Amino acid sequence: MRSLIDILELSTTELDELISTAYDIIENPQKYAHKCEGKKLATLFFEPSTRTRLSFEAAMYELGGNVLGFSEAQSSSASKGESVADTAKVISCYADIIAMRHPKEGAPLVASMNASVPVINAGDGGHNHPTQTLADLLTIHREKGHFDNLTVGFCGDLKFGRTVHSLIAALSRYSGVKFVLISPTELKLPDYVKENLKNDGIEFTETGDLEKAMPGLDILYMTRVQRERFFNEEDYLRLKDSYILTPEKLNGAKADMSILHPLPRVNEISVAIDNDPRACYFKQVLNGKYMRMALILKLLEVQ
Ligand code: NCD
Repeated sequence: MRSLIDILELSTTELDELISTAYDIIENPQKYAHKCEGKKLATLFFEPSTRTRLSFEAAMYELGGNVLGFSEAQSSSASKGESVADTAKVISCYADIIAMRHPKEGAPLVASMNASVPVINAGDGGHNHPTQTLADLLTIHREKGHFDNLTVGFCGDLKFGRTVHSLIAALSRYSGVKFVLISPTELKLPDYVKENLKNDGIEFTETGDLEKAMPGLDILYMTRVQRERFFNEEDYLRLKDSYILTPEKLNGAKADMSILHPLPRVNEISVAIDNDPRACYFKQVLNGKYMRMALILKLLEVQ
């Protein structure tokens, strides 16, 4: 039995297989409509979410399965002091697979060590978010057809943005990939992620200047400043509008650059860009559902 806590637990061959399954689901949804009949997914969300939780639920319904769960810590026994380990043991009696989001880094890992069913990390604090990475990878694949030799810019809150950490880890395994890390000094990529890049010999540069970086990028991954992870509101207010992507700022960009954002968007991308053919953030949402379907099938070992 396997869980998914960190994106690197999936080999590149397995990622390729998940992507192939997702393409097949897109082409032949009917073939998959009953694959998970009689199976239940539990969504244990100790932190707010719209996309990820509903994406998991939609994925399971489209596979013919059922869903149970909760969407906030207040409505679970965590509010009575139950440990994550105990919650995982209890839910294993009700569900065949668990998707867990938690504000504490490592909580889904603890759950996976105590559950008797597969656990999927649906975001743990400022750490990782492997299923958003699956959505991002399918989006890049559908736009570019490959991962090799891409120059990928990450812009915004690279410190607390867990989707950034997971996507960098995943892309680091493809050859010729380069990263441009665009952030205010206070929100730079954590040292442990940069150490991994250095150890793997991956080329990256850090800058505060989005417009200067723009012409070299094949992908621009915008992110929201993660208010809930700040220790004080003043710092958040000072940094929240560090980068706002407008049509003017795209002047120097490649004609086929793809703009990604894990959403929710606050102010980082002007709505005037939504109809630009380079904007991929709503496609990403749909791709996330297909990849979660592929992942559920894999972890439940459904043929
Ligand atoms: C992201 C997250 O939860 O980390 N959202 C998502 O799952 N699509 C990004 C964010 O909250 O900024």
